[in-house]
Amino acid sequence: MDRISVKGLTGRSDILIGESLKNLLEYIPGKQVFIITDDHVHSLYGLRFPVFPVYAVRPGEASKNLTEAENIYGWLLEKGADRNSFILGIGGGVVCDLAGFVASTYMRGLSFAFVASTLLAQVDASVGGKNGVDFKGFKNIIGTFNQPQFVICDIDMLKTLPEEELYNGFAEMIKHALIADHEKFAMMEENAGELLNCNSELLKPLVLQSVKIKAKIVSDDEREKGERKKLNLGHTWGHAVESVTGLSHGKSVGIGLEFAARFSVYRGLLSQTDYRRIVNLLKKFHLPVSTAFKKELVLEALLRDKKKNAESIDFILMRKIGDVEVQNISISEIRKFVYSEVNTDFS
Ligand SMILES: NC(=O)c1ccc[n+]([C@@H]2O[C@H](COP(=O)([O-])OP(=O)(O)OC[C@H]3O[C@@H](n4cnc5c(N)ncnc54)[C@H](O)[C@@H]3O)[C@@H](O)[C@H]2O)c1
Repeated sequence: MDRISVKGLTGRSDILIGESLKNLLEYIPGKQVFIITDDHVHSLYGLRFPVFPVYAVRPGEASKNLTEAENIYGWLLEKGADRNSFILGIGGGVVCDLAGFVASTYMRGLSFAFVASTLLAQVDASVGGKNGVDFKGFKNIIGTFNQPQFVICDIDMLKTLPEEELYNGFAEMIKHALIADHEKFAMMEENAGELLNCNSELLKPLVLQSVKIKAKIVSDDEREKGERKKLNLGHTWGHAVESVTGLSHGKSVGIGLEFAARFSVYRGLLSQTDYRRIVNLLKKFHLPVSTAFKKELVLEALLRDKKKNAESIDFILMRKIGDVEVQNISISEIRKFVYSEVNTDFS
């Protein structure tokens, strides 16, 4: 088991990679614990949960809202939860975001922790202290920065994960490698087949590397003033693709990463060789690199998402595999690139 610590303004968070759900009780302080999970995770793993009251939401993004948070506040009140209670979220990113938000706001904040049960939650959602819910169609628009005391990443739990859910996690792992670790990128190139089969021996060190990369960035810049923006690599275009096409987050990020790589070549930063390696790796992990949707619609969604009247946006560009930079790019240049014929020439 490896332990990586995130240092946030609200405290330290220990991410325990390779720890097992069965050892959970060893880490829980106090006795009055309340578990938040989803029905799916509960049906798969509920018998292995420690014996505490459980609130299970319906699986999926639709549960990440204020109504569900209110339902949980009501349940906590009814069960007599007080300021000494401890909240434990067991599930994917939806459960972690919701449980972290409820814990951070109920009685002005209770201590909390997660067992992250999806690859995406292990390498991304449970690390970094962002908690929150969606509101009026805006994702994660209501929330807090607050660190969980600990996060258990039990690699064996990933064996029950549907393939599509694995791809979402791999998209973020590729992103981390592109930001800061060319060796991780090469390992993913070499071992794609085994990783897709959830070979724990290979997966664990790569989850660890991802957590290390994210933990370092978050510890340096928890509130996203500078360095943390790099974690948006592939997400500026990717979010717009997701909102227009309804594709899964991982697939949209795949398309967003290809866009960022192509834009980086166009701006003379990234080599065409690196661009081709990136596209090939995305394909190996079943991530699409383009969409049949009109790019004009995606561009409009991207601009809608940004501040009204903004003339430029921060865009994360790649210098080479394992090295990125934040550049402020004018909307007119992004528009020109999107409509440019040049931009399909390197594949
Ligand atoms: N807070 C952050 O920094 C951050 C970062 C990235 C993403 N997120 C959020 O994470 C959410 C997405 O998370 P997700 O992809 O984990 O989705 P999710 O939580 O909806 O889980 C996906 C599906 O997998 C199921 N599942 C969970 N664990 C399982 C297991 N071990 N075996 C089988 N099935 C399992 C769930 O029941 C669900 O049906 C989004 O809401 C996103 O906004 C947050």
